[in-house]
Amino acid sequence: MYIVVSPLWAGKPANATVEFLKFVPPGKVTLVLTCIGNDMDKIVNDYESKNGKFKSHYVIIKNLKTKKR
Ligand SMILES: Cc1cc2nc3c(=O)[nH]c(=O)nc-3n(C[C@H](O)[C@H](O)[C@H](O)COP(=O)(O)O)c2cc1C
Repeated sequence: MYIVVSPLWAGKPANATVEFLKFVPPGKVTLVLTCIGNDMDKIVNDYESKNGKFKSHYVIIKNLKTKKR
């Protein structure tokens, strides 16, 4: 079981994270991504459709703290 925390870079996990994820089965990974503000469902779905489903994933989106409601 792995908990991997990574920033989002250019619509993907940071390069070092992408490299690390090649060596571990996605089903054993809980992924936590931080980002400024993207369509994270789409990003994670696209990644999973190519590489397999993560055990679970979470996102911390900076913009949600500042959005006027
Ligand atoms: C090279 C680079 C590319 C990035 N690309 C994205 C991106 O595509 N989408 C996004 O929401 N944030 C992007 N970010 C912002 C990082 O996700 C953000 O810096 C990280 O989550 C840490 O948050 P902080 O800078 O508030 O500490 C990028 C940051 C860098 C340095």
